[in-house]
Amino acid sequence: MTAKYEAHGTVAVITLQNPPVNGLGFATRRDIAHGIEQAQADPAITAIVITGAGKAFSGGADIKEFGSPMAIAEPNLGTLIGICEAANKPIVAAIHTVCMGGGLELAMGCHYRVTAPGTSVALPEVKLGLLPGAGGTQRLPRVLGVETALNIIVSGDPVKSEVLASLPGQKLFDRVITGDLMEGAIAFAHEISATRPLPLVRNLKCTHPNADAYFQFTRNTVGAMSKNFPAPLRCIDAVAASTNQKIDAGLAFERKLFIELMQTPESKALRHAFFAERATSKIPDVPEDTAVRPVNKVAVIGAGTMGGGITMNFLNAGIPVVMLETKQEALDRGVATMRKNYEAQVAKGKLAQTKYEERMALLSTTLNYSDLGDSDLVIEAVFEELEVKKAVFGQLDAVMKPGAILASNTSTLDVNKIAHFTKRPQDVVGMHFFSPANVMKLLEVVRGADTAKDVLATVMQIGKKIKKTCVVSGVCDGFIGNRMIEQYSRQAGMLLDEGCTPSQVDKAIEKFGFAMGPFRMGDLAGNDIGWAIRKRRAVERPNMRYSLTADRLCEMGRFGQKTSAGWYDYKPGKRDAIPSALVEQMIVDYRTSIGRTPRKVSDEEIVQRLVFALVNEAAKILEEGIASRASDIDMVYLTGYGFPLHRGGPMCYADTVGLYNVAQAMKRFAQNPDDDPAFWQPAPLLARLVAEGKSFS
Ligand code: 3HC
Ligand code: NAI
Repeated sequence: MTAKYEAHGTVAVITLQNPPVNGLGFATRRDIAHGIEQAQADPAITAIVITGAGKAFSGGADIKEFGSPMAIAEPNLGTLIGICEAANKPIVAAIHTVCMGGGLELAMGCHYRVTAPGTSVALPEVKLGLLPGAGGTQRLPRVLGVETALNIIVSGDPVKSEVLASLPGQKLFDRVITGDLMEGAIAFAHEISATRPLPLVRNLKCTHPNADAYFQFTRNTVGAMSKNFPAPLRCIDAVAASTNQKIDAGLAFERKLFIELMQTPESKALRHAFFAERATSKIPDVPEDTAVRPVNKVAVIGAGTMGGGITMNFLNAGIPVVMLETKQEALDRGVATMRKNYEAQVAKGKLAQTKYEERMALLSTTLNYSDLGDSDLVIEAVFEELEVKKAVFGQLDAVMKPGAILASNTSTLDVNKIAHFTKRPQDVVGMHFFSPANVMKLLEVVRGADTAKDVLATVMQIGKKIKKTCVVSGVCDGFIGNRMIEQYSRQAGMLLDEGCTPSQVDKAIEKFGFAMGPFRMGDLAGNDIGWAIRKRRAVERPNMRYSLTADRLCEMGRFGQKTSAGWYDYKPGKRDAIPSALVEQMIVDYRTSIGRTPRKVSDEEIVQRLVFALVNEAAKILEEGIASRASDIDMVYLTGYGFPLHRGGPMCYADTVGLYNVAQAMKRFAQNPDDDPAFWQPAPLLARLVAEGKSFS
């Protein structure tokens, strides 16, 4: 049974039992309806309480059912809510912990609602590219007023039940129960059992004194903020209907919009991202109940760009950090940068002064390895040179306690080699943060050949604690993200060789939805970083074809924003990218030197070449087992590389376009004499999926 029925004297209690979050899938809806029927048929029962077992009242409709016939199998959610409203015995929703989406809609179909304080109440459908589809847009304005309801629906953000219960005139909650919820709910049910007529949210009036002006205003503001997503504006349309249509017409309108949104690629992408994010923590051969090692104190080696940001993550999570450097000045500089970052947050009102002080009090600094012995996890973020790493890991091996986890933040070096600089390779792992490390969500957890399973499980857990999206990557050059970006950058360079300007390439891919095009990104990150990597690769892979424009740029000393000159010009202290005549001339000269006649490249071709370059490399990464699943690759790109969320990540996008079409485009690119046929050789996995008519998902 996914909803248990029990009589408590004259009160029937129906308890949702559909872990993990009491999603309202078909079986649960059927069992609730059955419970209501049973209670109505029993003359001894005078009232009904609906609640949820475990860690939620209900997290809403069962998202896993979406797209399957079960999602609409009767009783669908609308029908179930109709059954509640039509019941001739009062139904009380007893709400706790989480009451979201369809769960809140069900509660609003009940005659009464009591709540435990601290419950997260939300209509988060918009975050899945949808709107509430079972009356939320019609009933929430009736109980909370139009403006409060619209804010909740358009943001999708949870609000605590006690906050909502304290709003003047609210009709969402009849009582906040601070003691035992079920005891209080049953007592409440006794109190109201004889009250007639039964109150219905649908009968409440819903008006706004300046509806036209108000909705126009919200459409303007919300429209500007949600340009790639249709759902927020549809939420406004539906809420507007609650003020100017009868409830049944409003419900029908809401349903129509819900079904339309369900079909949109944006909603599919957001639902994909929802499950992709949760899937990242599942490592095929590491059981979920693997015992983790305690991490109560962290050491960070190196107080530079990355060391400082990494440290802040742990301080923010309340975990003490000791930071080690070679010189006091470097420590002082690192600590000063962290202070500056925190102080900027305080100045913006994003962090309380007391919190800032609490966080800094968790930090200690040292120049001696002997001060690291009591740390459970050490993260190395020193210069990217194997010899330096070797010296550091040798010292760590000597001082760290047995069982401590030794992590490297290296972005390009071989984690297996680093592991063997110690006598405990099983305790070594890569923790590849992205810059700025205190801001970026992505953490690639690099699993070495010897990394112990409990080390991996511990790092995944601690990563979640510091609010990162952790994706496991095997060891290879560049791991998942940077290995793919190398191919993307190579294509970006070849596009310059064929006739594009940096700003044409950037504009095309930004219009597709990327936060930043490759050239603006290079200027931000520093073009010298890629230059150093290319020099190394030129030795390792002498036959790989590159445009040399990026090297020419660095030879001109144009490293990007830090030198106020890169692919673009920058005014001192400003970040606006101004197309550079000097750079464009350099590109023209280079083109001439390699005998190219420039041609006009369409924006569509630019986008396809950049994105399919990512996809083809990703297919190799997947086949080699560097990534466990295609959706992990999507999460890397959504959280670390600014890939547009509304497209769901490169693999999801390729599936949407159709892998056959991706392969056909690659064939066309391979025939372009100015491109590199070897580059467009389809990855074996991609070719196989195309032949079998399958997709990455
Ligand atoms: N349906 C199915 N499964 C769900 C679910 C849902 N609505 N909500 C969460 N889950 C699953 C997750 O996939 C995950 O499964 P897994 O363990 O197999 O990976 C598990 O529940 C736990 O999820 P979290 O890791 O997110 O757990 P938290 O405790 O951190 O958060 C939560 C719980 C706040 C409920 C969060 O999961 C959440 O925000 N869920 C989405 C809620 C939502 O969007 N509801 C609206 C659904 S659409 C709807 O109701 C349509 C209606 O209007 C018609
Ligand atoms: P950085 O140059 O800003 O900082 C390195 C710091 O390490 C310096 O403060 C230096 O004094 C210190 N250091 C050097 N040798 C040391 C030693 N033997 N013991 C203790 N401290 C020592 O470099 P950054 O950018 O912070 O990079 C650090 C590591 O993080 C590198 O491995 C890099 O590849 C990696 N990384 C860098 C990213 C970035 O965007 N900057 C992104 C992801 C990883």
